[in-house]
Amino acid sequence: MAIRKSAALIAGLAVVFGAMAGCSADRTPASAGSSGGDKPLIGITMPTVSLERWNNDGAGLKKQLEDMGYKTMLDYADNKNEQQIQQLENQINSGAKVLVIASIDGKTLGPTLQKAADKGIKIIAYDRLIMGTPNVDYYATFDNYKVGQLQGNYIKDNAKLDGATTPLNFEPFAGSPDDNNASLFFKGAWDVLKPYVDSGKLVINSETGKKAAGNWQDIGILEWKSATAQSEMENRLNSFYTDKKVQVVLSPNDSLALGIAQALETKGYVVGKDWPILTGQDGDVANVKNILAGKQSMTVWKDTRELAKKVAAMVDEIVSGKTVTTNDTKTYNNGNKVVPSYLLDPQVVTKDDVQSKLVDSGFITADKLK
Ligand code: BGC
Repeated sequence: MAIRKSAALIAGLAVVFGAMAGCSADRTPASAGSSGGDKPLIGITMPTVSLERWNNDGAGLKKQLEDMGYKTMLDYADNKNEQQIQQLENQINSGAKVLVIASIDGKTLGPTLQKAADKGIKIIAYDRLIMGTPNVDYYATFDNYKVGQLQGNYIKDNAKLDGATTPLNFEPFAGSPDDNNASLFFKGAWDVLKPYVDSGKLVINSETGKKAAGNWQDIGILEWKSATAQSEMENRLNSFYTDKKVQVVLSPNDSLALGIAQALETKGYVVGKDWPILTGQDGDVANVKNILAGKQSMTVWKDTRELAKKVAAMVDEIVSGKTVTTNDTKTYNNGNKVVPSYLLDPQVVTKDDVQSKLVDSGFITADKLK
């Protein structure tokens, strides 16, 4: 007992000293020092460790680059924008030659990226576009509008909206208002679903949900938090669904879908009886388990290993002075310029293809799904 207590004390002190030294508790131990071979230092910043995908992205990219001989610094910012800016400044001062950034609030990095550009550092926006600055050289992501389209089309097909004779109760959600991707996910889905809302085949009952028809940010869940999505869904169910059931829920990603499923469960919805169609994105383990249990209908899977591979290749092209491979030079205008982009293809995963797409490819090991 005494030993356990003192171990806990030491761990506690380590956290306190870490914080005092300006280290973030949300920083992987491996990132504390640079490692790798004799090629230049590459800075990687990811938004948070609290979401599974960013852990995979960060670790995957770090490994790819180190295998190619690069030194890396990998930082996670606990979804705190100021913390991310500090980490970027630190990477710039540490001599990074390329910064790979999955931003938190992509509109606020301009002044920091100017400092980077002044030192000749190249910037790759990773997954999320960085807005309003000329100092973003490349963007690598999955086709974000298509993610939303896949979700919208899944709902359209599986709720059989074209043949529907009775209206279905529908609740839309959107992602974090500060994330440019969230707007594209919502637009992609809304472009498919709006005609059915307009024709009355999909009926939004909640006051918040109705705001989807105006500005998507009004229904956005800040920081993509599961707990916020859960309480929002509970509020909607408590206030607008005392005499009816929700039949379709648009969730832009898995972290929101997790909270929404929890709210449905709390309110007594039962799989196979009255559980609604519920969308998602990412293929997080907890959500794939929910898909197998019938509590989530689909996820839009983005194989983050492919994104890491692509970005590592871009870094190498930049450092060795080669032409950087992009496949889209039209779509991603960040308000200052069109950023040359490489778009990867997202795909739908349902219960039927968890094994063939996620397990057989090694994205998730079978034991994690038990
Ligand atoms: C990413 C999604 C992710 C979300 C929350 C978005 O920018 O594209 O894959 O679910 O952020 O982290």
